[in-house]
This record gives sequence, structure tokens and C-alpha cells, in this order.
Amino acid sequence: MKLVSFFRHGKDKMKLGRNDLCWCGSGKKYKTCHLGFDEKLASFRDAGHKVPPHKILKTRAQIEGIRESAKRNIAILDYVSEHIGPGISTQEIDDWVVMKTKEFGATAATLGYEGYPKSVCTSINDQVCHGIPSEEDILMEGDIVNVDCSTIFNGFVSDSSRMFMIGEVAPDAKKLVEDVHEAVRVGLRAVKPWTFLGDMGSAVNEFCKSKGYSVVEEIGGHGVGIEFHEEPWVSYVSKPGTEMLMVPGMCFTIEPMVNMGRREIFEDEENGWTIYTEDGSLSAQWEVQLVVTDDGYEVLAY
Ligand code: MF3
Ligand code: CO
Repeated sequence: MKLVSFFRHGKDKMKLGRNDLCWCGSGKKYKTCHLGFDEKLASFRDAGHKVPPHKILKTRAQIEGIRESAKRNIAILDYVSEHIGPGISTQEIDDWVVMKTKEFGATAATLGYEGYPKSVCTSINDQVCHGIPSEEDILMEGDIVNVDCSTIFNGFVSDSSRMFMIGEVAPDAKKLVEDVHEAVRVGLRAVKPWTFLGDMGSAVNEFCKSKGYSVVEEIGGHGVGIEFHEEPWVSYVSKPGTEMLMVPGMCFTIEPMVNMGRREIFEDEENGWTIYTEDGSLSAQWEVQLVVTDDGYEVLAY
């Protein structure tokens, strides 16, 4: 029998014997902890599937740290939800996020991330994502807006986003917002260990297509928890049985960007960040962060 595995953060590949301590940090012997798990992973890899590296599988202690970060992330968005409305500028939303993040002893993951200038993303109507808060962008009755918040607390990263409807919005816009929320729940229901990210992605895509929408292909979700953006990259237009195998301890986002019209997008050339629908149609996105468990998933941030 092969008894070789690799220590988590070790630079050197080390042989792990049956009686050595498991790489996961449980304090148990390898043979009674992750040996069977590693053999199962190896069989998927041998069958040609993408399998997660150990380093992206969170330990119990790391999951607890991410949970604590996520609680703050949720509370920041709760604050936004209590105060957002017509006449509010997206800069004010950024100010709130800065204030609440500081109050919680946390930091915003977006601020300075690859040069991103603000602590939150605010994407209005035909903006697909990465809208940059500005004093000039005032929310008006009928707008739909995504507020995407990423929080670092005690070194652990949480990331979620919500849609807000400003005052009365048109029935089709409201339906888009609600349907995309449902699309995330459809994705969640497809998260099961030892199935594939493509099973989840295709469930999201099929649901959105059935409602007459299109899902953005170029931008997806991501692993998150220790770093802001980790492996895997997560598509919501993928095919069943493809993409990375989902296994317990994997932590990633479900955050489809869904357009009412065509799927094509373009980037704002001036700011180099904001993405718009090419046809000017509305776009909506909700984002949850989850960890895969032994029998499904746990939502960490929403
Ligand atoms: N929550 C978004 C994401 O997961 C935030 C993007 S951050 C930005 O990708 F800095 F790139 F805008
Ligand atoms: Co994200």
C-alpha cells in the first residue's frame, strides 16, 4: 500500500507514515484520519479529474477563524441594508463599510487589492461588478445595486455580496434580483462532497437560462479564507462532471453574475475595473461563501 502524502505547508515533500500525525492538524494518526481520504482523492486524480491540493483544505481551526471573519462581514452588510435608499451616494456606502470594518477591528480586503481604490464594490443596474464607490453616483428610486464586501479579520478572509432594490423597482428588475438569489440557492443545493464544481456551475447556469437570462462567463468565483483569492476559480457556466472535485474543507464562493440580456460584457477603460453589460441590460449578483462539509455545505458569509 502507498503511504505517501505531503505535509500541509511543508516546503519539502515528506513521507507520511500510517502512524504519523495527520497533515490536517487534527492531532490524530494519519491512518485513522485522512489516509482513506487521500486514497480517495488519488483515485479521482488517477481518473483524470482536477482534485484540490491539501493547502486549500481548511482545518477546523481555520474554519472557525473564517466563521468569525464572516460574522463581521455579514454585520457590515446588515448595516448597509439598514441605511441604503434613494439619495444615498455609493461613496456613503464605502464610508459605512470603512466605519463598521474599523469598529470590528477588521480590514477591507479590496482596499489596495491590485490597486483597487475603495473598501467595497457598488455595482448599479447595467454594471456587472467592480463598481467603484463615488460621490457622483447617487442611488435613485428604481435602481438595483450590488454591494460586495470582503473582510479580513484576524487574518481570515470573508466575502459576500447582496442586491438592494432602491424604492419601487420595475417588476422585471425585481424578478431578476429574486431569481438570481434563487440561482445561488440552486448552486448551494448542488454542493456535495465528492461531486464536481461543474455540477454546481451547470445547475446555476441551467436555472438562469430557464428564466431567460445569461450568465457571465469571463468572471467567476474563487476559493477564499486564508487568501482573498485562492484556488479554485469557480465558473457558473461549467459542465457536469468537470472542474475541481469538491471535498470537505474546501471554502469558496458562489457568486454568479447574471444578465437580463446577452452575456457579453466590457470593462470601463477609464477606471480599469468596472464591468458593464455590453447591451446595457440589467445585471444582478448575489455572493455567498461556503465550506464543503462531510454531507453538504455550511454557508459562512451571505
Ligand atoms: N468580491 C469580489 C471578488 O470576489 C471583489 C472583487 S475585489 C476587487 O472578486 F478589488 F477586485 F474589486
Ligand atoms: Co468574491
